[in-house]
Amino acid sequence: MKVLLLGSGGREHALAWRLAQSPALAELHAAPGNPGIAALGDCHPVRAEDAEAVLELARALDVGLVVVGPEAPLVAGIADELRHGGVAVFGPGADAARIEGSKLFAKEVMDAAGVATAATMPVARPPCVVKADGLAAGKGVHVCRIDDELETALRATANLGGPVVIEELLEGEEISVFAITDGARTIALPVAQDFKRVGDGDTGPNTGGMGAYAPVNGVDAEEIVDGVHRPVLEELARRGSPFVGVLYAGLMLTDDGPRVLEFNCRFGDPETQSVVPLLEDDLLGVLAAAARGDLRQTDLRVSDQAAVTVVLAAGRYPEEGDTGSPIEGIEDAERDGALVFHAGTAVRAGRLVTNGGRILSVTATGDTLTDARSAAYAAVERIDFPGARYRRDVAAERGERVGR
Ligand code: AMP
Ligand code: GLY
Repeated sequence: MKVLLLGSGGREHALAWRLAQSPALAELHAAPGNPGIAALGDCHPVRAEDAEAVLELARALDVGLVVVGPEAPLVAGIADELRHGGVAVFGPGADAARIEGSKLFAKEVMDAAGVATAATMPVARPPCVVKADGLAAGKGVHVCRIDDELETALRATANLGGPVVIEELLEGEEISVFAITDGARTIALPVAQDFKRVGDGDTGPNTGGMGAYAPVNGVDAEEIVDGVHRPVLEELARRGSPFVGVLYAGLMLTDDGPRVLEFNCRFGDPETQSVVPLLEDDLLGVLAAAARGDLRQTDLRVSDQAAVTVVLAAGRYPEEGDTGSPIEGIEDAERDGALVFHAGTAVRAGRLVTNGGRILSVTATGDTLTDARSAAYAAVERIDFPGARYRRDVAAERGERVGR
């Protein structure tokens, strides 16, 4: 089968890496891809958001499956356009992708499905969380503990325009649970945790994610998928918009049990870079079966190892990215057994250079989380570019991480 993968981040490189190992793969194509993906397949200079150009490319290449990485094209309806054009897609249509695209819609679906989430507050009073309704590239959610934060949050969300959701502030550990689904059947993937704040000890601003690990001990993925994903998928199907793709629940493990913070309509980044290396069966077969609506195989063998991913970011990330700085040491890290996934990289004059905020994700696996963590950080030490920053406490023992 020929596959076209949409996106250009570390998540897409991790998916590309696993798809490239599939015996069923004939050709791997990506749009637009990145230099890491280019080592595994052909990258085409087409933006994932440009549905018309993507459909044209998919037809010209005669691909059997399109796998959509990021949320924006899904929320904008790229999966519908491709399906109408006769192309099989792993990823939900616009109606189902609203579960990520609108917080109000997600709340309505959760209420109808009886899934536990943060309570909506009739008046904004700290402690609370203020959320812009629509997609805001990670800038739409404000956790407010004091009046000042609430004022700033209300002003910022008003500037974005559109409706605002105010909800109770939940405390606990946050986890990410992914289920691959054909709209009815599901496969639960290993539970992951990501590290959203830029600084050690969960300090500084939120980012696209500075690291991740999987599995999270003591959390049963099947149980969460039964209690959270399945009722939501049933509700979406009941509404005539079955969800095909990967449904991602971000949950808080509170003293009263798991509560949904958000749904996403795609794989998480950087959690995917930790989860995918643990999957043992043919991922392409599973994604293609889900896209066909025929996910008969209901489990995917998962290794009993652990994986840790550390993101190497530009020195001034998340305020600013970096471009044109040479990157050294990736081969050394790979020789030691680490997986180095590209995100913000480019090739200039034959050299690999920085080109963005999050530059690379470095993943290592091991028999224990401690082993995986040591291997990931040893690999990170081998890689160098000017100003590289990374968190030192990804997957550290809870006691070493303030606020976790
Ligand atoms: P969201 O985009 O809804 O996932 O929110 C982004 C981040 O804000 C989450 O990953 C949480 O860290 C935090 N957050 C969202 N909702 C809540 C809540 N009700 N209580 C506490 N933290 C929250
Ligand atoms: N890791 C958070 C996200 O992908 O949204």
